[in-house]
Formats: sequence, structure tokens, C-alpha cells
Amino acid sequence: MKLNIALLAGDGIGPEVIDQAVKVSDAVAKKYNHEIKWTPALTGAAAIDAVGEPYPDETHEVCANADAVLFGAIGHPRFDNDPSAKVRPEQGLLKMRQKLGLFANVRPTFTFPSLIDKSPLKRERIEGTDLIILRELTGGVYFGERGRKDDGDTAFDTMTYQRFEVERLARKGFDMAMKRGKKLCCVDKANVLEASRLWRETVQGLEKEYPEVEVSYEFVDAVAMRLIQWPKGYDVIITANLFGDILTDEASVISGSMGLMPSSSLGSNVSLYEPIHGSYPQAAGKDIANPLATVLSAAMLFEDFELQDEAKAIRDVVNKSLAEGVVTEDLADGGKSYKTSEVGNWLAKNIQ
Ligand code: IPM
Ligand code: MN
Repeated sequence: MKLNIALLAGDGIGPEVIDQAVKVSDAVAKKYNHEIKWTPALTGAAAIDAVGEPYPDETHEVCANADAVLFGAIGHPRFDNDPSAKVRPEQGLLKMRQKLGLFANVRPTFTFPSLIDKSPLKRERIEGTDLIILRELTGGVYFGERGRKDDGDTAFDTMTYQRFEVERLARKGFDMAMKRGKKLCCVDKANVLEASRLWRETVQGLEKEYPEVEVSYEFVDAVAMRLIQWPKGYDVIITANLFGDILTDEASVISGSMGLMPSSSLGSNVSLYEPIHGSYPQAAGKDIANPLATVLSAAMLFEDFELQDEAKAIRDVVNKSLAEGVVTEDLADGGKSYKTSEVGNWLAKNIQ
């Protein structure tokens, strides 16, 4: 297969972790006779510095014409500490999600056999966890009406959802559940929010089309608790943009490290693959960041092109590196650790 992949390294540790995912993907492509053409493009603070804009039109062109996008991370502390900054790297990410129509963010949570005891949660509660949080990504409070009034003393952000937005996400959730454990949980705040009542109504309306799927409805505050108490109770969770943002950071604790969790963002055309962690500026340029979340995002990419063996080869080599202790310092418990680039080289070399 020939794949043309847009490569958006972004900021902070983005370029370093992306490099490793490229090495590993190239090794897989070589082994299985695929041809990958990588097309780099600017995004985030790096793009603001170069052209004054975090998601320039040229970058959008590259992404829109690619078969898929592999994304590193964006964000820079110089903007975080300046609430008056007009242009922010994060706007690039939001603009990209919107312009590429990436309405469904797939964030799986699973455990790694060799890392179970790294999680602050008890082994018996998390071992065997296998759930997906399907986060709505182009609507809700992230994209609703916002502003200031009363001379700036009142600020508002609005959570707005349209039925079609809920429906297309819910359908993806039902389809995923059908291929997995056949359980779907709609997570909302329908006891308070009108937008959440529209979610429930819409999902209820689809239930009869998927009679095999067991559907439940839970409030987001309760799920924040149950998710870490008994994650094995969940299969596919569908939820609104902000709720999903919060719950997926929480869920990463189950796997032991945020440096491990991959994601994909799907729309009707091109899809995007990215680690769920941020740009980790403190580690930028030090060759110490954990590249596995990005490498595993590349595995999700291969899988979506129905290249299952290729995806499995990546997951297997990642498990092998963890079992053999070829890990970056975040996973080394003060013992021997490897540089980001060394882990990448080892993975590429050991792809079988
Ligand atoms: C994420 C991030 C982004 C989000 C930020 C960087 C805008 O936290 O992908 O989860 O809130 O969606
Ligand atoms: Mn987040």
C-alpha cells in the first residue's frame, strides 16, 4: 500500500516523539512492503513563530490532501502565562479539528501486563481494563458562543449541541460497541444541562437500531468516580467534548502513564493520530520524553487502513520493550533508562 502521511510535529517534545513514530512506521512499512511518504507541515507555536498562525492554510492543504495525519503535540508556556495573547498554539489544534471535520476522538484505555503495578490503582481493579472513550471533538463548549460583557467583568462560554452532531457520534459509538463488548454508556449531565438532555434523547432514539447493544446512561460526576473504581465495568463511553477531555486524562492513570496513551480523531475524510499527552515543554530537546503514545498512535493508523498485522507488530514490539525494560526515565523507577531516540531505534530494530 502507498500512504501519504502529513507529519505535524508541533511543539515541545512533539518533534522528538514524532521522529520515533516515523522510524517505527518506516520499519513496519519496509517489512510489509508498503511505501510511506511523509509530508511535514508547521503547526502550533512553531507555526506562530514562522508565519504568525498556529494552523496555516498551507498546513491545512497538506492535511486535507493526505491519507492520514500524524500529530505530535502543541502548546508553549510563553502563551499559558499570558492571558492576553491573541494567537495561541491550542487554537491551531481546535481549528484543525474543525476544518478537517474530526468530530470523533477515539481514546482507548488499556493496561500493559508489565506495567500494572505502576498504576496507583490496585491490580485487581484495573487488570484487563479495555475501554474506549469516544469524545465528541468539534462541538460543545469548545466551539459555542463565547465572550465578555459588562465591561469585561462577565465571561461566558456556551455548550451548544445539534441533534446531528450527537447522532453521528453516537452511531460511531454503537458501531464500535458492536465490534467489542456490546456495551455503550452515554455520559452526560442530563440532570442539569439541556444539551445533555438532547444527548440522551438522541441516543435513546437510536437504541432500537442496535438491539444487541446494552445501553446505559450515567452522569459525568458519578463516572469520574466509577471509572477509576471499576474501569472494567465500561466498554464504549460516548460523551461531550469537555467531559471527554477531563475523563480521558483521568483514565490515563489506569494504564500507569500518560506517556502511553494513543488516540485517533475521525471524521468523514482524513483521520488524525496523536498521543493524548501534551507538549511537555520542560522535557523539550532533552531526548527523555516517552515516545510510546505516539508510536501506538501510528499502530492505530495502520489498523484503520486494515493493516492489522502491521498494527500488531507495533503493539508487540512496544510490549517487548516494556517487558525488557527498554524504557524512558518516566517508567524506569530510578533504574536504567533509555533516551527517547534509543527507545525508537530499539523498537525499529526489533520490529518482527
Ligand atoms: C486534548 C488537549 C486539548 C483539548 C487542548 C490542548 C486544547 O487537552 O487534546 O485533550 O482540550 O482538547
Ligand atoms: Mn486534554
